[in-house]
Amino acid sequence: MENQYIIKGGTPLRGEVTISGAKNAALGILAAAIMTDETVTIDNLPDVRDINVLLQAIEGIGATVNRISPHVVQINGNSIGDVTIDYDSIRKIRASYYLLGALLGKYKKAKVALPGGCDIGSRPIDQHLKGFRALGAKVNIEYGMINTHADRLIGNHIFLDVVSVGATINIMLAACMAEGKTVIENAAKEPHIVDVANFLNSMGANIKGAGTDKIRIRGVGRLHASEYSIIPDQIEAGTFMVAAAATRGNILIKNVIPKHLEAISGKLLEIGAKVEEFDDAVRVSCTDRLQHTQIKTSPYPGFPTDMQPQIATLLALSEGTSTVTESIFENRFRYVDELSRMGANIKVEGNIAIIEGVDSFTGASVSAPDLRAGAALVVAALVADGISTIDCIRYIERGYECFEAKMSALGASMEKIPLDDDRAIQKFKLKVS
Ligand code: EPZ
Repeated sequence: MENQYIIKGGTPLRGEVTISGAKNAALGILAAAIMTDETVTIDNLPDVRDINVLLQAIEGIGATVNRISPHVVQINGNSIGDVTIDYDSIRKIRASYYLLGALLGKYKKAKVALPGGCDIGSRPIDQHLKGFRALGAKVNIEYGMINTHADRLIGNHIFLDVVSVGATINIMLAACMAEGKTVIENAAKEPHIVDVANFLNSMGANIKGAGTDKIRIRGVGRLHASEYSIIPDQIEAGTFMVAAAATRGNILIKNVIPKHLEAISGKLLEIGAKVEEFDDAVRVSCTDRLQHTQIKTSPYPGFPTDMQPQIATLLALSEGTSTVTESIFENRFRYVDELSRMGANIKVEGNIAIIEGVDSFTGASVSAPDLRAGAALVVAALVADGISTIDCIRYIERGYECFEAKMSALGASMEKIPLDDDRAIQKFKLKVS
């Protein structure tokens, strides 16, 4: 059953929201969990589609998966019988390719369908495969499958040609049980890289330097049981920070690591929003119209590409002309056409969006083109005069847990209703009128 969000804009968000576990840390951690034959318990798991699909893929190869609660899962890799991840799993969640590194690292062989492109760009995985080959694995691609195996995995000095989150995690997985020492140079430094490394170390791995551009791994013979809690989601937190500023609200965002949010907080402060940092929370408030600025996305600790659509939406309502340069992915402005239907004035030239701030948006029916663009359209609808509907919300539900419930608890008029359900639309309109 396809659903849509229906939103009546204009209410400043007020109150408190608790952030869920980080999706992009959880995906790497779930793959790493199969590398031991003992039971691993993971909590603060985000209950979102990507996680649930990856758990199905892990169960599909024979691992034991016991979902204790929406936010807690136990995994035991002892019963894995198959090292093949089919196209169906990869099509549903690209990050199942982390099972390539995990299975290669543990069993010295793996067979994973080649992930296709995706909504935001071509997403090559050449650096992942370069790392596996550097460790001594044979890698060949035929019939849409990546086949890799190794008699022995030997540590090596690997230089990434591009800063890649996925390649850094996948190579860490393949190297943590290899013989000897591996160094990954030009490694990605995102918080979720550190979380995956910390998790692997809690299982007995020997990884140093995660969070810097040089990660040093000393291979170990086996990994053991662990109980681990996932870090809060930096991008979900950033999305609520932008929503608070856009609606001229005042919200306390709980269960965050403020340090992970510094690039976002810095930009919000620069354009005139108020941001207060606490130990594990940030408060964002805004009363006046915000100012223009320049944004350039870059690897952590720079401004995150996953926050680009959201901040662009905020700047589309700010004073003056702003520019947003997307330097990571080649097709991450697909939300601009939808946003223009709500009154935004944005021109995209190559990888730069030139944004002329407008006074307000008006509600419209729009479609989410991808996960973070969909979240940005929700922010826009929360501000727009009148009612908006957003369809293709399955994209948004890949990375935002109970999005409409969290927003409603902050005072938003937002519901999830079945697509084309005119009765539900009329009921909502009556309720909010
Ligand atoms: C991860 O994708 C995230 N996904 C993305 O979040 C995020 O946008 C991205 O990192 C950047 O932070 C997960 O963690 C599951 P990359 P990933 O490898 O690992 C190029 C979301 O919204 N590249 O760091 O695929 C690539 O084309 C998603 O949650 C190669 O050229 O990103 C891109 O230009 C969207 N060769 C750049 O590197 C490779 O082998 C960065 O990509 C790998 C990547």
